Amino acid sequence: MLAGTGAKTLVAVSLVTQRSPAVRGNAAAAHRIRRQQALRSGQKRISNGSAKPAELLLVQAAMSTPAWPLQRMRSVWACPRDRTWPLQLRDGAKSADQTAFYCPRCGGYYNVRDGIADFWLSTESGAALIEHERQMRERYLLPHLGRRQRFEHRVELDAVLDALRCTPEDRVLDAGCGVGAITRPLIERGASVVGVDFSGARLRYLQERLSPTQRERVLLAVADINHLPLVSPQFTRIVCTQVMQHLPAPELRQKFLKEVYALLSPGGRLVLTVYADTPATRRQGVAAEGFHETGIFYHRFQREELAQYFGQFRLLSLRGLVCQVPGSYRTLPWLGRAGRHLERWLEKRKPVSDEYAQVWMVLAERPAETPH
Ligand SMILES: C[S@@+](CC[C@H](N)C(=O)[O-])C[C@H]1O[C@@H](n2cnc3c(N)ncnc32)[C@H](O)[C@@H]1O
Repeated sequence: MLAGTGAKTLVAVSLVTQRSPAVRGNAAAAHRIRRQQALRSGQKRISNGSAKPAELLLVQAAMSTPAWPLQRMRSVWACPRDRTWPLQLRDGAKSADQTAFYCPRCGGYYNVRDGIADFWLSTESGAALIEHERQMRERYLLPHLGRRQRFEHRVELDAVLDALRCTPEDRVLDAGCGVGAITRPLIERGASVVGVDFSGARLRYLQERLSPTQRERVLLAVADINHLPLVSPQFTRIVCTQVMQHLPAPELRQKFLKEVYALLSPGGRLVLTVYADTPATRRQGVAAEGFHETGIFYHRFQREELAQYFGQFRLLSLRGLVCQVPGSYRTLPWLGRAGRHLERWLEKRKPVSDEYAQVWMVLAERPAETPH
């Protein structure tokens, strides 16, 4: 009887070993340990034959080790419907990949896949325009970028990172983090980052490109930035680049910024970028509101209009980035670092950036000692 059970376990484990990459990794670790032991005991070769009971134990132990730190996830995520915190874990969950969180108040279940919790509320959030964008973002992860676009991305990235002034003590929320253009440099600077995006495909792409140590400093969730699964003023920094222009109504933008304010610790700073509506964009014939070829909605903000969204915050600066000044448009990207310096010099001239900017960058602060 016992022998039969053991044989079944052996078959089950070796089948899993063949299939799952995680377990294949564990088997490889077991093999490495055996090889080290063999080398230490003077053996030249080790057998690659069928797994021995000791190795089975090793594989089984590794399988039951939580692949993701459940408690860390539990300490962060709240119910996106009613903000209940902490969430409960489904009974019998051993690792975050096999589990779901559930909300004891509303009874909602939220699955976890590959360590990424899914808080997407399909019925509540699924207004047609938002749902369409989500599907497009799932499908098209990395658009092809020409030299000029790569230059513009780099200019924006540098400006955002400078404005954030992150230190390893900072706890950052990257709202609409996408494939991690900002998330990764922040993690590299030692900050702990919570990344939220409504495209699971983008989050998985981001996660796959992080080293194991970097993964320890990031938590990712699929969620709508208008229903953030987060509570309390826990972030010293919040960053949101190129996302708010896709929220299809002013009320949604206001709601988002209200949530951001509530999550920012007193004295914490927000850095946000959006499309600009400037005389130059108007001359170029770019509509202030419309749809990209993919059908994704966008809204371009005028300077004064954008400033009005930040009534609650202390607005530290609102400046134009990525100035498409005639003459410099084609040359600057070819000049590398010198081109970026020149671009920055242009941006600092307010009349120039007010006229030619393609992007606004807002730096705002939640005043210290303020009520929620
Ligand atoms: C233009 S990309 C910017 C990504 C990233 N912030 C960056 O600067 O590279 C916009 C991102 O916002 C996400 N997004 C748009 N609307 C969202 C919403 N309502 N909730 C969550 N994510 C959203 C998209 O999936 C996409 O990844």
